[in-house]
Amino acid sequence: MKVGIIGTGLLGKAVATRLLNTGHSVIVYNRTVEKTESLKKLGAKIANSPKNVASESELVITIVKDASAVESVSFGSDGIIHGKHEKLIVSDMSTINPISSRKIAKRYSEYGIPMIDSPVMGGRSLAEKGELVIMIGGKKEVYEKCKSVFDSIANKSFYLGENGSGNAMKLVMNLQISILALSISEGIILARKSGLDPITFLEILNSTYFKTGMSVNKGPKMVKGSFEPSFFLKMMQKDLDEINYTAEKFGANLPFAKLANQLYQRAVKDGMGELDYTGILSYLEKANKLES
Ligand SMILES: NC(=O)c1ccc[n+]([C@@H]2O[C@H](COP(=O)([O-])OP(=O)(O)OC[C@H]3O[C@@H](n4cnc5c(N)ncnc54)[C@H](OP(=O)(O)O)[C@@H]3O)[C@@H](O)[C@H]2O)c1
Repeated sequence: MKVGIIGTGLLGKAVATRLLNTGHSVIVYNRTVEKTESLKKLGAKIANSPKNVASESELVITIVKDASAVESVSFGSDGIIHGKHEKLIVSDMSTINPISSRKIAKRYSEYGIPMIDSPVMGGRSLAEKGELVIMIGGKKEVYEKCKSVFDSIANKSFYLGENGSGNAMKLVMNLQISILALSISEGIILARKSGLDPITFLEILNSTYFKTGMSVNKGPKMVKGSFEPSFFLKMMQKDLDEINYTAEKFGANLPFAKLANQLYQRAVKDGMGELDYTGILSYLEKANKLES
């Protein structure tokens, strides 16, 4: 399949890199064109609009910030719908809420364009290794047509049902991640306040059944105060908005999700939005008058 990628931020660039490195023909568009330069060197074709990406691709994957960005690249004046052709399929990999995702899929269907949602677990480094996990919502036969492309970037994909199901599951997943980052941060702070070495806290945690990828891979970096972003803290806060909106719409009462959002919101307000999401530790340390 000829693949188009719209949005070459942290995740989109890594997905496009993986597709190029596995022999796919890839055309990309990004609103800020400078972020496509490294992909051009790897052999990507650079388009000057989402419309042009669509007219030259069989599968267009949108990987942009939020639902309004998805709508803009989809239905805007130079949007994907204007590049429509018979074989075109759209797959939205952005993390948005399932209600918006369903509305966007319905709008695409009015133009005769099949759309699925395909949000992912895993960031830049897993994308570049082809080890993402993809959650799919939409028509199964549409997903099956795209499967070979998904298999290049992910080691597992889960088909979950109607449009929006992938996004609903992705929000369930990011609820875990946002709260886990808070839990490890509070553990590091309590260890420090108790006069204990937080690295020993992690060593003990990682010797038990309760270890996680985050406590193994990100924990030591958190203790060192190293928050180079693989997923921006401001993006996690955006996802907590989506989690809380979805909970309200679907009638779920989630006290932790509300509290987590308040903490991430305050960290963004304090200028920490461009740290990795695990930089929530920095915000809590500041509130505790601790230096990392
Ligand atoms: N990074 C990860 O590990 C990860 C993992 C899973 C899911 N996600 C999700 O993937 C999506 C992208 O995240 P990211 O980490 O790649 O973020 P990022 O580095 O901040 O990139 C955001 C992308 O969205 C584009 N964008 C924002 N607003 C736009 C608009 N109005 N019109 C057109 N393009 C717009 C940006 O274009 P400009 O460059 O012009 O600003 C950029 O390409 C988000 O929904 C995020 O939640 C990310």
